Amino acid sequence: MTKYFDGSIEELEQRVAKKMSTYRYQHSLRVRDYAKQLASENNVDIEQAEVAALVHDYAKERTDEEFLAVIQDKHLDPDLAKWGNYIWHGVVGAEIIHDELGIDDRDILNAVREHTTGAGSEMTLLSQVLFMADYLEMGRTFPGVETARQVTEQSLAAGVRYQIVHTVLRLVQKETVIYPKSITTYNYWLQHA
Ligand SMILES: [Fe+2]
Ligand SMILES: [Fe+2]
Repeated sequence: MTKYFDGSIEELEQRVAKKMSTYRYQHSLRVRDYAKQLASENNVDIEQAEVAALVHDYAKERTDEEFLAVIQDKHLDPDLAKWGNYIWHGVVGAEIIHDELGIDDRDILNAVREHTTGAGSEMTLLSQVLFMADYLEMGRTFPGVETARQVTEQSLAAGVRYQIVHTVLRLVQKETVIYPKSITTYNYWLQHA
């Protein structure tokens, strides 16, 4: 039994594995490993970080129709419907994780909601840990990944700042539309880290 899931970690692993490709499940396990390390370095409950990491992409392989139905049924912000899987699997995914896996820890659900865009206000340490572990798990190989890991291991908040600056830069370079919350996150962390 864990504090955050009604069953063992092994049972949670099986539930998660069943809902995604092997590729994504392996990513989730690597996020778990790095999240546990960052949690122990930052005085975050390790089991809470482990559960958050295992479930963070739980809903990523759902259809657009399923996400849109949840947005309607749960009366989530109707503006969400204009976006896509990249945004939905966090914000809407948290609802699916709650309903299907019975996970009701507020901090875990918020960390899942914030894992792709961060938040433009205070983020819990747990949320920062998940945000950074997803970005820097050992399968990641983008240019600068080693620098990003060093920055993050010195200061979690500096890591959050590094990630959001580089993500916004990449989106601008690709001339991609940017979800407004990503800009809010950018503005906040430039002033707070
Ligand atoms: Fe994700
Ligand atoms: Fe992920």
